[in-house]
Amino acid sequence: MLLKLFPIFVSVPTVALAEFAVPWQKTFQDPASPIMEGIINLHHDIMFIICFIVGFVSWMLFRTIYHFHHTRSPMPELIVHGQTIEIIWTLFPTIILLIIAVPSFALLYSADEMADPALTLKVIGRQWYWTYEYSDYSGVEGESIIFDSYMVPDDEIELGQLRLLEVDNRVVLPINTHIRVLMTASDVIHSWAIPSIGVKCDAMPGRLNQISMFINREGVFYGQCSEICGVNHGFMPIVVEAVKLDEYLEWVSNQMEEM
Ligand code: CUA
Repeated sequence: MLLKLFPIFVSVPTVALAEFAVPWQKTFQDPASPIMEGIINLHHDIMFIICFIVGFVSWMLFRTIYHFHHTRSPMPELIVHGQTIEIIWTLFPTIILLIIAVPSFALLYSADEMADPALTLKVIGRQWYWTYEYSDYSGVEGESIIFDSYMVPDDEIELGQLRLLEVDNRVVLPINTHIRVLMTASDVIHSWAIPSIGVKCDAMPGRLNQISMFINREGVFYGQCSEICGVNHGFMPIVVEAVKLDEYLEWVSNQMEEM
């Protein structure tokens, strides 16, 4: 009976880890990087504080509405000013905000930290696909691994593939490696975002943005362009396949051979 009443109960994913959005999802996708773990923990910490604020403010509000209803309080008080209470209700929220700011800034700056990257991935946003370049490796003529990544259209999708999320060429990256991602665009602003890795960065034409990434488990992580970039904005997904280092090196050598 309960299951029929609340679709949320039946829609809880049966798979252990979700690297993509699921119907009726209420919270974050499962984290795959220390930064995403930090974001989720910060969210939970702030949520804890918010519960008290919501409780306290609603309690005050309903109490006021109840006690100062004209039937219970026909003669209003003439007080219009109270210095003590004003100092309290100014300082108290300030202190709460300062308390929240400390872990928030710590997380913000650690997300920006570039810890001696072992690998650089260049991402170029285009209308409406992504181009990926691994400039660390060069072939005989100095060319680097470069490929385009298009969404798999509905009429070509295979059983088990995710509609609007699967791409023809996935980005392959090693786990437990500090990765630097350089981002730019060739036409308009796009945004390269993967929820489970905790990454979202604008790809701007004429600019080179930089983010760091550290994936701490294997998996296939799905993301989408997150900046309105034109008619096919919703059809330029991102797929990162995180593999063990030796598998990654094998992939690299295969790519080099194909060049
Ligand atoms: Cu590219 Cu939105």
